[in-house]
Amino acid sequence: MKDSSNLRFSGRHVFITGGARGIGREIAKQFAEEGANLSIIDTNKADLDTTLTLLNEKTPGSHFIYQGDITQREKVNVIVDAAEAIAPIDVLINNAGIAFETPFLEISTEEWEKVLNVNLTGFFHVSQLVCRYMVKRKRGIVINMSSKNGLDGEAGYAHYNASKAGIIMLTKTMALEFAHVGIRVNAVCPGYIETPLSKEIDSPEFTRDFVNRYIPMNRPGAVEDIAPVFLFLADSNSSFITGQIIIADGGQLSGQKPGKYFI
Ligand SMILES: NC(=O)c1ccc[n+]([C@@H]2O[C@H](COP(=O)([O-])OP(=O)(O)OC[C@H]3O[C@@H](n4cnc5c(N)ncnc54)[C@H](O)[C@@H]3O)[C@@H](O)[C@H]2O)c1
Repeated sequence: MKDSSNLRFSGRHVFITGGARGIGREIAKQFAEEGANLSIIDTNKADLDTTLTLLNEKTPGSHFIYQGDITQREKVNVIVDAAEAIAPIDVLINNAGIAFETPFLEISTEEWEKVLNVNLTGFFHVSQLVCRYMVKRKRGIVINMSSKNGLDGEAGYAHYNASKAGIIMLTKTMALEFAHVGIRVNAVCPGYIETPLSKEIDSPEFTRDFVNRYIPMNRPGAVEDIAPVFLFLADSNSSFITGQIIIADGGQLSGQKPGKYFI
């Protein structure tokens, strides 16, 4: 592991799930630009390879990729042990997630279980396995990716909304159990962010209409809007913050978007 001194996360080991593309890749990139060493677990080998090339070309640290599915506990166990054998994990970012639209009455048991397995049970597996190491060391940071949908519902996404609401309570409970041993646990709730996932689900017309109706800042979020929130929650600027939910949604949850402008 390299220690590129004088950078904000020099020599720190950041373990991130779903870091091969989208918001996760940007989080990995921004940590790595600040000197961190990354371990990335993702199901998609091609995207993992692209991300590793990008990190190795542009950032100073040592980076590792692991193809794996966070729902497969035994495999995750092997990966966490392997990453820990390289260097203690300082920061865990639970980011991997899936989403698709299904009207409530049409959600099959398979669809329900698929979303809950990745978005909630997967977070539980990774968190428990990594936190067993962190508790022994009496230090660590965990940051969970929830969503605006975990606080405020969206029709057509009952499975997704339920999973993201579950992450909020998982976050608070972990924070309560770990606060006295020096482990902080927080969650981030992004609003509408343009990523490969949102582009797969929504047409450009839908996105334009959604922004016009609901987002006071009049634009969709970008991955670059979200990654810095994770860096803030991982460094000493947030040293007394735990069990919190940080919303980054362009103002969407502040209330109804104005029908007319005053300024
Ligand atoms: N895009 C948004 O508008 C938005 C808003 C709020 C929250 N989020 C959340 O942010 C996270 C990232 O979303 P994104 O938009 O970047 O999605 P994305 O699909 O672009 O990236 C998600 C990554 O997770 C990986 N992944 C999926 N299932 C996995 C599994 N079982 N094991 C390991 N890796 C897995 C994918 O291969 C992919 O690389 C998700 O948790 C999502 O719910 C996204």
